[in-house]
Amino acid sequence: MAYETIGLGMEMALLDTTVHIHRVVDDALKRAAENPVHLAEQLRIHYGVFPGLLRTLIDVHGTEGKRQIIADNLHEEDGGGDGSRDHRVMYDRFLSSARSTFGEGRIPSALPEGGNPFSMAIAVGNAMQSVVSSQPYPTAVGAVYGLELRAPHQMEQIRNFYHKLGGSALDLEFFDIHMVDDVEHTEQFRELLVAEVRTPRDLFDAQRGLDLTVVTDQQFWLSVQA
Ligand SMILES: [Fe+2]
Repeated sequence: MAYETIGLGMEMALLDTTVHIHRVVDDALKRAAENPVHLAEQLRIHYGVFPGLLRTLIDVHGTEGKRQIIADNLHEEDGGGDGSRDHRVMYDRFLSSARSTFGEGRIPSALPEGGNPFSMAIAVGNAMQSVVSSQPYPTAVGAVYGLELRAPHQMEQIRNFYHKLGGSALDLEFFDIHMVDDVEHTEQFRELLVAEVRTPRDLFDAQRGLDLTVVTDQQFWLSVQA
């Protein structure tokens, strides 16, 4: 009873949710056109937790066997030995080009006075962190697989959004590389799941990880306000 034979229904359901989230992202981007720098600041938190998720997977579960893939991905996140290629450094280059093109982000008007405009991005990041640190391994890997699976299309949506708004004035390399590299990472994490899921219980755990990221990712995008 391996993942390969019983996981197909799970993947079909996942593809449905993925299409759903792509639409949620499109709607959020329409709202964000009024306040593009604030979205860029929120995304800094949303995507900024990712290297920490990989680090936690390694710290909690080790790197033996196929798990080495996680350490290799983390090395890429850190720039592969070149600090200027660190993905967070790359993201900050995008953010500063967005600020010089559009000005500073403003606090969304719908927020209550004194409210934290980043509260949902922070809460979603914390939720993801607790999934990978305190849940069974298939749940943790399933969660990261869910993020990787949606990343290439999501990155392309965001890239096209900013390109249309700011054109060549924006440094969009962060999105360019993830549109391509996360296709490969998705396949790597799928392989990892196939290797780890051996029992119906493992499959249930993996499914829960995927579902949790669908809910948290959607929650982030729904919270985007003009
Ligand atoms: Fe990255």
